Amino acid sequence: MQLVTNKQGLNGTIRVPGDKSISHRSIMFGALANGTTTVSNFLKGEDCLSTIGVFRALGVPIEEFQDKIVVHGTGWDGLKRPDATLDVGNSGTTIRLMLGILAGRPFDATLEGDASIAKRPMGRVMLPLREMGAIFEAKDANFAPVKVTGTKLQPMTYRLPVASAQVKSAIIFAALQADGETTIIEKEKTRDHTEQMIRQFGGTIITEGLTIRINGGQEFQGQNVVVPGDISSAAFFIVAGLIIPNSKIRLENVGLNPTRTGIIDVVKEMGGKITVEQTSKAGDEPAGTVIVETSDLKGIEIGGDIIPRLIDELPVIALLASQATGKTVIKDAEELKVKETNRIDAVVTELSKMGVALVGTDDGMVIEGNQTLHGATVQSYGDHRMGMMLQIAALLADSDVTLENAEAINVSYPSFFDDVTSLYK
Ligand code: S3P
Repeated sequence: MQLVTNKQGLNGTIRVPGDKSISHRSIMFGALANGTTTVSNFLKGEDCLSTIGVFRALGVPIEEFQDKIVVHGTGWDGLKRPDATLDVGNSGTTIRLMLGILAGRPFDATLEGDASIAKRPMGRVMLPLREMGAIFEAKDANFAPVKVTGTKLQPMTYRLPVASAQVKSAIIFAALQADGETTIIEKEKTRDHTEQMIRQFGGTIITEGLTIRINGGQEFQGQNVVVPGDISSAAFFIVAGLIIPNSKIRLENVGLNPTRTGIIDVVKEMGGKITVEQTSKAGDEPAGTVIVETSDLKGIEIGGDIIPRLIDELPVIALLASQATGKTVIKDAEELKVKETNRIDAVVTELSKMGVALVGTDDGMVIEGNQTLHGATVQSYGDHRMGMMLQIAALLADSDVTLENAEAINVSYPSFFDDVTSLYK
């Protein structure tokens, strides 16, 4: 696909689509609850539609309307053995969280996904769940397809070796089915949407610093969930507004959960002009308006416990850094290697093609500032966030940019190109 290039003066307002992480969890808790759950501003991207497909295959009635999703919860005991293999598409969140849910159900099921999912590690979830008694068979002991044979689960105390909300959430779902109290100790604080939604659905979970405690045997009640916009989707326009000359972009209904707002801290530290105003709060999921304008930026070092708070934004933060003055170092981000693609290799290869001086390291990247971007044929690697980052990069390019596998963007932001176009027309 031919990308939009060589634009100045992006101006306007964007209401970013619903948060992907929260949309997935709204279907999961809606299904596991008793009674009806209504979800508004649900993200109708391919990933979240995969979660809907999986629960329908488990016997949960789910209705899709223009403006809402209605889940007719069956409760834990209402889930049924699926007739066929469950397809998670490209969605790591779906497969990993489902492993925790299915581990304690009284039937077996097999989960598989696309070529990207087949390369992503599942051992990080299976290992702790096996300590609780879960039974899995996986390709080469680590990869999808994964067969789960549901069984009775025991509580445990587990110290997470990786900072991963998906692993944490899978354990929480298993712990909800175990007989007694499970303790999880995080390596670093990661997104806490699962914990927030347990409380919203009438359950109890205790968090103290990095320690989480949860009892099995909890029942949930259906709720009205209002999904805030996805800050990970807003990130592409936050960066566009900062680096494209003569721009000012207003982003409305951006989710501002503090476990997700690392990009705002980074922009402030780089000297970017950004204002953030919280306008609403649904439970503990705050949302608000973010306004950015073209800024002089300086390179910084990004590492430590901010990394899980901006992990999905690092590809577009690398682009942001290429327009700052001075060098930016991203470290402690080895998790980038096990995302939809190896995002260290992918960002370095593709931005290099456009003329950016940057190198990959074992746990991140070093990006030179003040870079000029040129035309090239670039590749998404089937990774939605790579595709969107490259479109924002193309806005600065001096000649044609062609993006291969652009359709990957539908995973999290089907209206992305329309929103880009709306800012300069
Ligand atoms: C997610 C957690 C993160 C993130 C992913 C969504 C979630 O993955 O990268 O896009 O919804 O829990 P990890 O938990 O593997 O870091």
